[in-house]
Amino acid sequence: MNTEIKKELDKIKPVQKIKEAVESSEELSVQIEYIGKCQEYIMDLKNRLGRPLYACINTFGCQMNARDSEKLLGILKEIGFVETDDETKADFVLYNTCTVRENANLRVYGRLGQLRGLKRKKPHMLIALCGCMMQEPEVVEKIKKSYRFVDIVFGTFNIYELAQLIYERITTNKQVVDIRQDTNEIVENLPVERKFPFKSGVNIMYGCDKFCTYCIVPYVRGREKSREPKEIVREIEHLVADGVKEVMLLGQNVNSYGKGLDDDVTFANLLAEIDKIEGLERIRFMTPYPSDFGDDVIEVCSKSTKICNHFHMPVQSGSTRLLKKMNRRYTKEEYLSLIDRIRAKLPNVSFTTDIIVGFPGETEEDFLETLDVVRKANYDSAYTFIYSKRTGTPAAKFEEQVPEDVVKDRFNRLLEVVDEVCHKNSKRFEGQTARVLVEGLDDHEEGMVTGRMTNNILVHFKGDASLIGSLVDVKLVECKGFYYMGELV
Ligand code: SAH
Ligand code: SF4
Ligand code: F3S
Repeated sequence: MNTEIKKELDKIKPVQKIKEAVESSEELSVQIEYIGKCQEYIMDLKNRLGRPLYACINTFGCQMNARDSEKLLGILKEIGFVETDDETKADFVLYNTCTVRENANLRVYGRLGQLRGLKRKKPHMLIALCGCMMQEPEVVEKIKKSYRFVDIVFGTFNIYELAQLIYERITTNKQVVDIRQDTNEIVENLPVERKFPFKSGVNIMYGCDKFCTYCIVPYVRGREKSREPKEIVREIEHLVADGVKEVMLLGQNVNSYGKGLDDDVTFANLLAEIDKIEGLERIRFMTPYPSDFGDDVIEVCSKSTKICNHFHMPVQSGSTRLLKKMNRRYTKEEYLSLIDRIRAKLPNVSFTTDIIVGFPGETEEDFLETLDVVRKANYDSAYTFIYSKRTGTPAAKFEEQVPEDVVKDRFNRLLEVVDEVCHKNSKRFEGQTARVLVEGLDDHEEGMVTGRMTNNILVHFKGDASLIGSLVDVKLVECKGFYYMGELV
């Protein structure tokens, strides 16, 4: 290697956070070596092209994927790429995919066609696919057969190997496909590039063991694995030292946290530990599972001043009969009584939910039960989904799939009720003053900023970039449906 390049490499080589990580895992040191090897390649290519090299990550799906993308971007930046949002400018394009519903899946194929065109004009360009969709064997077969221009394919269990996979691709010049079926390994502590300096997702567990009959997540994310509480606390302490004020604890079913760990630790214990972290201002979590939401968790939440006043509590359906077919382990009444129990302890709490319409065998009566829950639970907002058949899940084989026109009609009626209930509820804070974490400049109006209340509702008010990342008091002047217009107090 020429000495100039070596000097450049030395400048960007292992930063403090990587050195610390080496001590905690063998796999990490392997990956750090690959990062080093890729750095050399990228430096060389940069010199040849006489310009920086750009990487663009396109993230589909949920908060899990968003957090994974921050980790993937951390590795790409460490290797020497500069981040861009512009796919046409990128030398490395990565799609982090979702397959929870068919439309998420179709969007990826649609965009791959465009990438092929870009790559023709830029032969050194690398295209990589990862995420939940890649855990489906049919998808990988299709990519191997019909999308040969894709350079790297990997899944949800080995995102930490990105540098190794890039290295394999550039040294073998062949399509690299590396999908695992599951893993016992949790590899953390590689560099992470957060989207927001002041807030961060924190994985507390991976995978899901619930097997709701409609859902593909357990098949593509594997069995539940909790991280050690001290690792989580340490990660959050580091984040706080780095300017983070709000964390979102991530897991498909956070109430199961602790299962399989040596120490007898529960989600409530973990929350109590995190609550003690000095300098941390806000704690959120996603997603709780209704029937596992214990009184111990409610108790910790009611004592804490940091745990936010918002719970995302997916109901999926209001019909006990259908919930049973979905393998959701609660009845309509149990769900509503949980909502009441929480409200009794936390009167200002906001609830949001996920609802599926058109699950196989859904009757008009079942659907009316769902509308009833929406009214009774008094949600602040609801994510509504049309049932999507996922190959490999039990529900895909259920008879009585609901005709499309019936589903569409129910979906529209659900939206009307959701709008009506949620608008009415969100309005209840009008005139009050709320603590708001300022998240950024307002997208629509100059001279305005956007912040988030503890109950997750957005507020727009006059302000400038200097406020971003700080907690301020804002008077909630007018509710505009799902958000407020306010004034800095
Ligand atoms: N673990 C979380 C949700 C993960 S998936 C939970 O249990 O709540 C996010 C949402 O996607 C689910 O809550 C569900 O409403 C929706 N979803 C999952 N599979 C679906 C399918 N096959 N069709 C339509 N919506 C689906
Ligand atoms: Fe899917 Fe159910 Fe697991 Fe949520 S709890 S990820 S809906 S299987
Ligand atoms: Fe989608 Fe995977 Fe999340 S399937 S919803 S990105 S866990």
